[in-house]
This record gives sequence, structure tokens and C-alpha cells, in this order.
Amino acid sequence: NPLQGAQFVLAAHRVDQLPADEGAEVAFAGRSNAGKSSALNALTGHKGLARTSKTPGRTQQMVAFSLPPLRDVPARASVTVDGQHVSDWRLIDLPGYGYAKVPLEMREHWKQEIDRYLHQRRSLRGVVLIADIRHPLKEFDRMMLDFCFASGLPCHLLLTKADKLSRNQAAQALAAMRKSFPDGLHATAQVFSSTAGTGVDEARQAVAALLRQ
Ligand code: GTP
Ligand code: MG
Repeated sequence: NPLQGAQFVLAAHRVDQLPADEGAEVAFAGRSNAGKSSALNALTGHKGLARTSKTPGRTQQMVAFSLPPLRDVPARASVTVDGQHVSDWRLIDLPGYGYAKVPLEMREHWKQEIDRYLHQRRSLRGVVLIADIRHPLKEFDRMMLDFCFASGLPCHLLLTKADKLSRNQAAQALAAMRKSFPDGLHATAQVFSSTAGTGVDEARQAVAALLRQ
């Protein structure tokens, strides 16, 4: 597993509190309760790494995890957090978007910070967009795909909670999703389930490929 050995670094309320913008990172984005934190745990093979919850709106911070350098790529820079050296390979768990019970002020704050993050973060190599396979893409997901399309940022879509559908239904949902992508979008998509382990290896390779480029 190329994503093994991930470690919590810090939780940030603002982009400027994240680790130094060096090296390479991949962000996990998606609506509230889509399964971002669960996917992070499944991909890193570390169950308790990112906090998950039945209550939407659990992750109300940008959470940074460092990865040991990928075996075939040397570490490029040294990043220090609270005097400790951490690897400059990172995964970032973004706050869930679109949950109505999160106070309006908080939602506005995250809308602004996610926007700032996407536009400013030079070490950002790609986005893993997580969406429930049973629901078509919602406004937030469309905005994220539009942003990736406009900026040329690669996006890998995990259609998660596939354990809730039959294999056939899941394959149909994936095909329909791919068809709806505009030409020229640098996006790939796959079926995924954190609980059943479906597509975990494929997703690990996709994230490692994003980090390497
Ligand atoms: P926020 O932090 O609130 O934005 O949510 P999140 O996107 O991080 O979702 P989280 O990983 O906390 O999961 C939300 C709920 O979905 C939890 O009850 C999980 O157990 C459940 N869940 C996540 N992934 C899967 C999956 O693949 N299959 C099933 N059946 N449930 C899942
Ligand atoms: Mg979460």
C-alpha cells in the first residue's frame, strides 16, 4: 500500500494554518457525510486516522496527514510543524460541504476557505472527490468538477457506499457518471466502498499517481 504509514499532522481552521506549501498533497473533498474521512481511513489502512461520524458535519477543520515519502520518489523539502520534521507528502481532509444544520456563518467560512485553498495551494496535485453512488452529483460536486475543468487540476471521483447497491447497479451508476463528464475534464471515476473494501487498491494507486506528478 503506497499510502501506508500516514500520520496526523494538524487540524487547521484557515488555509494559512496548514503545513508549509511545499512538496505535494492531495485533498479529499465532498459533501457532508459523503464518506471522506472513512475513505481516508480505508486508503491509508489506518482505521482511527480520520474521525468519522454518523452525524453530518463532523469534520469542521482542514485536517493534514503526512505520508512517508513514496518509495520511488525522493522527498523534496523538509517541512517543520511545531519544531518537528514531517514529510512533505500530504493528504488533506477537507470539511464537508452543504450540511444545512451547520450554522450559516460556518458554511460561509468554509466556502471561502475551500475556494482559497483550491486557488492558492501550489502543492495541491489533485482532488479526490467523494460522492455517494446512490445520489447524482449535487451542486458542490459540480462546482468542484467545474473548478478542476477550468484550472486543469486532475480529479479522481470515488463513488462510495457501493455496498448499498448491487454490483450491476454500481457499474451502471459509474457508466452514467462518466458519460456526464464534459470533454477535456481531467477526471477519472471508480466504484468504491470503505466498509466492503471495494476499489480500495485502485484508489490507492490513483492517489499515489496524483502525488507523483
Ligand atoms: P463529514 O466529516 O461530516 O463531512 O463526513 P465525511 O464525508 O467525512 O463522512 P464519514 O466518513 O464520517 O462517513 C459518514 C457516514 O457514512 C458514517 O456513518 C460512515 O460509517 C458511513 N460510510 C462511510 N463510507 C461508507 C461506505 O463505504 N459504506 C457504507 N455503507 N457506509 C459508509
Ligand atoms: Mg469527515
